[in-house]
Amino acid sequence: MVTVSASAPGKLMLFGEHAVLYGYPCIVTSVDLRIRVSTKITDTRRVTIRAKGLREPYTLTVEEFSHTRSLPNEVRFVATAITKFWEHAKEKFGIEVVSESEFSESYGLGSSSAVTVATIKCLSEITNLALDLRGIFDLSYETVLDVQGGYASGFDVAAATYGGTLYYVNEGKVIDLLETDELPLVVAYSGLKASTVEYVRKVKEIFEKQPRVAEFIMKHISVLVEDAKVALAERDYSRLGMLMNLNQSDLNALGVSTYELDLLIYAARLNGAYGAKISGAGGGDCIIALVSNEKRLAVEKALEEVGVKGAKVIKVRTSAEGVRIEGRI
Ligand code: PMV
Repeated sequence: MVTVSASAPGKLMLFGEHAVLYGYPCIVTSVDLRIRVSTKITDTRRVTIRAKGLREPYTLTVEEFSHTRSLPNEVRFVATAITKFWEHAKEKFGIEVVSESEFSESYGLGSSSAVTVATIKCLSEITNLALDLRGIFDLSYETVLDVQGGYASGFDVAAATYGGTLYYVNEGKVIDLLETDELPLVVAYSGLKASTVEYVRKVKEIFEKQPRVAEFIMKHISVLVEDAKVALAERDYSRLGMLMNLNQSDLNALGVSTYELDLLIYAARLNGAYGAKISGAGGGDCIIALVSNEKRLAVEKALEEVGVKGAKVIKVRTSAEGVRIEGRI
């Protein structure tokens, strides 16, 4: 039996988090930390999944798997992707899946979307269904929506599928590849894993209680996103940094930043970054700072020494390649 492997990149939200869920655009970049998935069709009519964090492989017959409602967290995305793919292919088959990651899922760098996209790519290849990128995006996005109960714009799925730096509108209504160089970013993990759903709910509450103000903030963010698109094209990093700071002010207004995230952001700014903001829903995960070559070391040092427990700099390169086949043996 053939084994097909594929990998997909993680992501960083650059501009427009939260606003993207209300119909406004965002800008996301993929990073060169990847998740790799290997798949093998078996004739045993069993589904077997091996993943980090599982003490032993998760294994069920195809029939049991079709009816199970309680999936362990570690296999939720891969398992749902398999079910979605079966529906799409109108055929159920036994399969072995192994996933490996180059980064911790605590970072909020999009491990769930990357593992989903890599799984769908493998299945599409191994069954010779040859889905194009849009087909991979659509099935992967359906999977993520299913697992996350509807709270997902799909920007991370787009980054894992297409790679590069993307201008993105909710539900994949627009997915435009932006022409940019690799961005001079410093990324720092805040030491705390955040719950995206919790912070999406928090913002929804503001929308319910203060709809006019919330709408105003989202519109403001969308203006920053449009300007950032221009600044990116012009490689105008000083302007881009200013736009990051303005976007962070909106996120502060929405109450999704924290004391620790703000400490990191100010450490970066005070040590010469062009700008800094959170990346993603807030509450934890990572901050990003845009820096010149001369300031990079000072900013990295400041982030590690500012005294946020568990904070650390993560080396990544932006605009990485999207999902790709790694091997077929
Ligand atoms: O926390 P993350 O990295 O999953 O980013 C969430 C970004 C939101 O706009 C808040 C939600 C979404 O799905 O777009």
